[in-house]
Amino acid sequence: MIRNVNPPLADSSSAVSLLRVPVKPPVHLDRGWFHWLEGPVFDQIRPGPLDADLTAHGNGEPIGTKIIVHGRITDSDGNPVRHTLVEIWQANAAGGYIDSLDQSGFPLDPNFFGAGRCLTDHNGYYRFITIRPGPYPAMFRDGGRAWRASHIHFSIFGSSASSRLITQMFFEGDALIKHDRLINSITCPLGRDALIAKLDIDNTISESFGPPRTRPTLDGSGVLVDPPARSDANALLPRNPSALAYRFDIRLRGPRGTYFE
Ligand SMILES: [Fe+2]
Repeated sequence: MIRNVNPPLADSSSAVSLLRVPVKPPVHLDRGWFHWLEGPVFDQIRPGPLDADLTAHGNGEPIGTKIIVHGRITDSDGNPVRHTLVEIWQANAAGGYIDSLDQSGFPLDPNFFGAGRCLTDHNGYYRFITIRPGPYPAMFRDGGRAWRASHIHFSIFGSSASSRLITQMFFEGDALIKHDRLINSITCPLGRDALIAKLDIDNTISESFGPPRTRPTLDGSGVLVDPPARSDANALLPRNPSALAYRFDIRLRGPRGTYFE
C-alpha cells in the first residue's frame, strides 16, 4: 500500500520542526561541488562497549523500568543498513532531560544521562539497554499545551553523514499516544504505527534476583557532572539483567518507510 499522506512541513505539533524544514527554494550545486565518500566511516568515533547501555553510565542503577530497545534498520528494498551509527536520546523516568532547554524542573536522575549510541551489525541490527522514559507536558508554537507520550529520539546515519535521519519511537499500549500531537501530525495510521515499538516478550529478560543493594551514591551537592568513563570497577559489577524488550524496526526510505522529523 502506497502512503502518500505526509505530515505537513513546519507543523506546529512539532516544537522543533520549524527549525528543520527549508524556508527558501533549493539551490542547485554541481556534483563536483561535493566531496564524495562511499558509505559511512565511523572508525574514528567507534562507540565504546557500554555506549549502548544507558543504564551503565552512572555510579549506580538509574530509576525506572529497564528496557531493551532493538530492531533492524533496512533500506527501501529491505536490505540491511550495515555498520551505521544509531544514536538515541530521551527523558529519564520522571520525564526530565539533562538539557539547558528543559525548564520543566522535573527531577534529574544522577545515574541517568539519557543518551547512547551503537553501530548496526552486518544484518543492520541494533540493540540498546535503557530505562523507559516518562511522559512530559510540552508547549507548542501555537501556544497549545499537551502531554508528549513516552518516546525515544533516534538519529540514524544512512549512506553518508549528509543523510542523517531523525525520528521518535513510541511504546505499544501507551494511552497517551492518542493525545500526542507530534505522532498524530501523521495522518496515515500505518505511518503512526511504524513509530510504535512493539512489546517483545520473547526477548524480555526476567530475573527475580540481583546483586545485594549498595548505598546510594547521590552526594546531594546538586551539581551535575559529566558521565564518568566506565573504566572503573563498578562498571563490571553484576547487575540484575531483567528488562522488558521492545522491538523497533526502521525502514529508511520508500513507500513503507519510517516517518522522520
Ligand atoms: Fe523528547
